[in-house]
Amino acid sequence: MNTIKTIKVGILGATGAVGQRFVEALADHPWFELTTLAASERSAGKPYARAANWRLSSQLPDEVGDMTVVPIAPQNVDCDLVFSALPADVARSVEPAFASAGMVVASNASAFRQEPDVPLMIPEVNSDHLGLLPVQRDARGWDGAIVTNPNCSVIMLAVTLKPMIPFGIEDVKVATMQAVSGAGYDGVSSMAILDNVIPYIGDEEEKVENEAQKLLGQFDGSVVQDATFDVSASCHRVPVLDGHTEAVWIRMADDPSPEEVRDAFLNFDPGLNLPSEPERVIIVRDEPDRPQPRLDRDAGNGMSVSVGRIRNGIRYIAMGHNTVRGAAGASVLNAELMLSMGLL
Ligand SMILES: NC(=O)c1ccc[n+]([C@@H]2O[C@H](COP(=O)([O-])OP(=O)(O)OC[C@H]3O[C@@H](n4cnc5c(N)ncnc54)[C@H](OP(=O)(O)O)[C@@H]3O)[C@@H](O)[C@H]2O)c1
Repeated sequence: MNTIKTIKVGILGATGAVGQRFVEALADHPWFELTTLAASERSAGKPYARAANWRLSSQLPDEVGDMTVVPIAPQNVDCDLVFSALPADVARSVEPAFASAGMVVASNASAFRQEPDVPLMIPEVNSDHLGLLPVQRDARGWDGAIVTNPNCSVIMLAVTLKPMIPFGIEDVKVATMQAVSGAGYDGVSSMAILDNVIPYIGDEEEKVENEAQKLLGQFDGSVVQDATFDVSASCHRVPVLDGHTEAVWIRMADDPSPEEVRDAFLNFDPGLNLPSEPERVIIVRDEPDRPQPRLDRDAGNGMSVSVGRIRNGIRYIAMGHNTVRGAAGASVLNAELMLSMGLL
């Protein structure tokens, strides 16, 4: 592992579903010192343990539970980088304020993902897109910056599409089965989701289709040229707590066999040498009934994507932890990449 000077970081939206995952990821991080927890006026002024009074896990360190939550404003935050887990409408006005105050914002929100000068990043997929940072700073006059990670269902898809690129991807179809935590604490009522499947998630299909093309596009030194293959998505909410499962169909020019696709998954090793990088980004599950959220979502500390049921076509199932690999862990990995490249 690289030796890196520690920097101060904060979390905007620290009390939510993703914010709590950030706390877990940062509480004992070798490169990041968590100094600020920020949330809405509802939570500001309270100890974090009381403000985040519903819990995803019992592993909240005492020193974090005792920290006082501050209101979200740059003057309340003395950090080099902030992780944003804010709703998109809030992020739209808040994140530029932090970037113009000189901080780098590693954002989970969708507000800026499709801006041409904002990197949409998965380190194992498109680390070269960080070349957009100087373009963004020139265009916006910021000392800081905004760097985004994709929607939680796009990450499982894009990570598994990356090793397929050499086969010549022509067309992708995906049907998602998404966990309730993907909608946040207030997102889906228990009365609506128990004993049910909801075949609609607002704006989700558009995000999956558009973000995959930006992620797998080519950075030409000033802009990202989107990938040219079509992506068609159908998104569904299912009664699972954590872990998005996706059925994927890919048509490829080389028409690879399932064995060739399995080998490509097994050989995919970006080797970035970052603290949150799992030993295996993609884990191939050969059992006929895997991957499953309950069995596989925590693989690689929640940072691995599991694939299985690779069949002719090509068809396969991908599954990953939506609030870790698909959200907080993804942002932390982006920040680790930037720090390791001397960009923070
Ligand atoms: N959940 C996922 O799997 C997932 C995956 C990828 C991306 N995302 C994105 O990540 C972001 C957070 O999602 P989430 O699921 O964690 O949402 P959430 O559970 O609803 O949490 C929202 C957070 O934002 C704060 N907040 C809400 N309104 C605010 C306001 N007006 N001013 C300041 N702070 C405000 C809340 O603070 P209080 O507690 O004080 O109200 C809370 O900390 C969203 O943009 C979402 O689309 C989520």
